[in-house]
Amino acid sequence: MKTAIVYYSAHHGNTKKLLDAIAEKYDVALIDVTKDKTADISQYDRIGFASGIYYGSFAKQILAYAEEKLPKGKTVFYIATYGTKKSSYYRAIGKIAESKDCREIGRYGCPGFDTFGPFKLVGGIAKGHPTEDEINGAIQFYDNLR
Ligand SMILES: Cc1cc2nc3c(=O)[nH]c(=O)nc-3n(C[C@H](O)[C@H](O)[C@H](O)COP(=O)(O)O)c2cc1C
Repeated sequence: MKTAIVYYSAHHGNTKKLLDAIAEKYDVALIDVTKDKTADISQYDRIGFASGIYYGSFAKQILAYAEEKLPKGKTVFYIATYGTKKSSYYRAIGKIAESKDCREIGRYGCPGFDTFGPFKLVGGIAKGHPTEDEINGAIQFYDNLR
């Protein structure tokens, strides 16, 4: 099953740490949406979207890409890192995928070092995240996708 993960990981590369660990073990194409905004993913059976959380959602670059390039009827999954956990972070990307009749097979999220805005003044939150356990959790998540 051919898999691509389209990602945005600009803050501290937190999300990319999870993806690199997955890509080290599995044959998966990682597509950086900041470098390739128009990548053709129609050849892939499974599409992952991975992102740090920005203002309560997956990065707007990911949402714009999904809106424009996600083909109808794909199998999708989500990976996120955030400062503080909330289930609503997946809402916008989920809606776009649903509007394209895509089927979600899972989502994985964990904390990621966050020095945005006022958090910078206190040395950031979620320091040291993602941890090794959280990175291994992402590998396990990927392994369990069916
Ligand atoms: C501009 C900006 C906005 C953010 N907004 C949120 C937010 O709404 N909720 C949250 O939990 N974390 C928020 N964060 C923290 C990031 O989601 C977190 O640090 C994430 O791990 C960054 O991933 P990355 O390093 O892969 O880009 C924000 C960070 C930045 C820089």
